Amino acid sequence: MRLGIVIMAAGKGTRLKSKRAKVLHEIGGRPLVKHVIAAAAQVVPPNDILVIVGHQAEAVQAAVRDTGVRFALQQEQRGTGHAIQAAEQGTRDYEELIVLSGDVPLLRPETIVALRDFHLQEQAAMTILTAEPANPFGYGRVLRTPPGALEVAAIVEQKALQPEHQGLREINSGIYAFHRAALFSHIGQLNADNMHRELYLTDMARILHDAGERVMAIKAAEPEEVLGANTIAEMMRLDRELRLATAHRLMAAGVIILQPETVMIDAGVEVGPDTVIEPFTQLLGETRIGSDCRIRSYSVIENSTVGDQVFILQSCVIAESQIDKGARIGPLAHLRPGCHIGEDSHIGNFVEAKKTRLGKGSKANHLTYLGDAEIGSGVNIGAGTITCNYDGVAKYKTLIGDGVFIGSDSALVAPIVIGEGAYIGAGSTITKDVPADALAVARGRQVIKEGWAKNRRAQREAMKAGAGKQ
Ligand code: UD1
Ligand code: CA
Repeated sequence: MRLGIVIMAAGKGTRLKSKRAKVLHEIGGRPLVKHVIAAAAQVVPPNDILVIVGHQAEAVQAAVRDTGVRFALQQEQRGTGHAIQAAEQGTRDYEELIVLSGDVPLLRPETIVALRDFHLQEQAAMTILTAEPANPFGYGRVLRTPPGALEVAAIVEQKALQPEHQGLREINSGIYAFHRAALFSHIGQLNADNMHRELYLTDMARILHDAGERVMAIKAAEPEEVLGANTIAEMMRLDRELRLATAHRLMAAGVIILQPETVMIDAGVEVGPDTVIEPFTQLLGETRIGSDCRIRSYSVIENSTVGDQVFILQSCVIAESQIDKGARIGPLAHLRPGCHIGEDSHIGNFVEAKKTRLGKGSKANHLTYLGDAEIGSGVNIGAGTITCNYDGVAKYKTLIGDGVFIGSDSALVAPIVIGEGAYIGAGSTITKDVPADALAVARGRQVIKEGWAKNRRAQREAMKAGAGKQ
């Protein structure tokens, strides 16, 4: 049996009131359609997944191209039935089809497999994945006649519900299995005789049933899994569910997450055991965190790799960077893209770094900007040091050798090389390379005028006394 999976992702998402196509909106840090593709790819190879694109087709294709799926174009969006008509050519090689909705993102691969197996076992022409959520409003309802019958007679859309349908609680999830030949030999019977003047895929239930085909339904174990996202509020509910599930996945793997309902962890994040994540932390994108770390509150870490035993203090912002074992960052540090912070090194408060490598055991503890710098090991960067990497036109590099000591409030005007073991006197503005083991001091010489302040005070007192006599 050859099985293909079709994902409907061509719709606009009018109810979102957003410029962006619905399936590109994100939950858990990933576009809706990517979640659906990920689940489908657990069941069939990506080459057997056909994504139907239409509204903002290029953007949708660009967002998921890396998954290796195939695409079909639904030029105009005239409903879910019309979308499946656009998949006829692209699915010729398959006997059975699973149809997924690009806006039902929490579906698990196990449930797709259960749908497939039930559908094959029942030798159905169409099998509908259904659920009984607490609030069925907005969903199509599954009509079995007589009530309780095994076979399905029709799906009735919310807006077409008649008084006698009010008791129907079983909803259509928008996920189906079809015997392909039965689907396409009857799909021409769809018509747009409904509120939206669209071709509804849901009408295939009635059409196939009336043609004497077997239309079945299987209930999802967890109604949450088949919730759709038609409005921003619904989408944020799914986002919350997914993030909570991610936090629980990590806790099950030994991560200690304090007040897990407050953290924001994207679906792709991995964390090692015994790492402690404090409330209100955000771990985003493809972030990897080692074991035995502590991430204090309000830190936001995105697409970064953090080794074991790293301590990240409060309110750090870290993006696209690497932090090695035993390092200590923050509080209030900002690592912009391209930083590599070496083993056991320190980045302290109000330190900003960009495209900078800090070697093993080096320290920049206070109030510093490090941009485009290559810094060796065992280096001490004094408070208030600035790498002046930009002359208004281009960016230049600062190279600092092992064991260098940079005195506080120094400006290092790049391009510049500070040789190994050199010392820079505090308050220096360094514009020329400093040889290894040298001392460079570049600041105004100190002048002492003995008694100057005392004399000035005396002069002022005398002037005041003179003024008082008048
Ligand atoms: C659909 C079902 C409804 C079900 C619900 C479950 C129909 C008519 N109704 O309603 O019974 O309870 O899903 O979530 O199918 N799409 C296209 N091309 C189109 C129109 C839609 O590709 O021309 C895609 C959308 O991008 C979306 C999916 O199909 O991913 C579902 O469309 P949507 O408009 O959200 O259907 P619902 O109104 O939710
Ligand atoms: Ca929907």
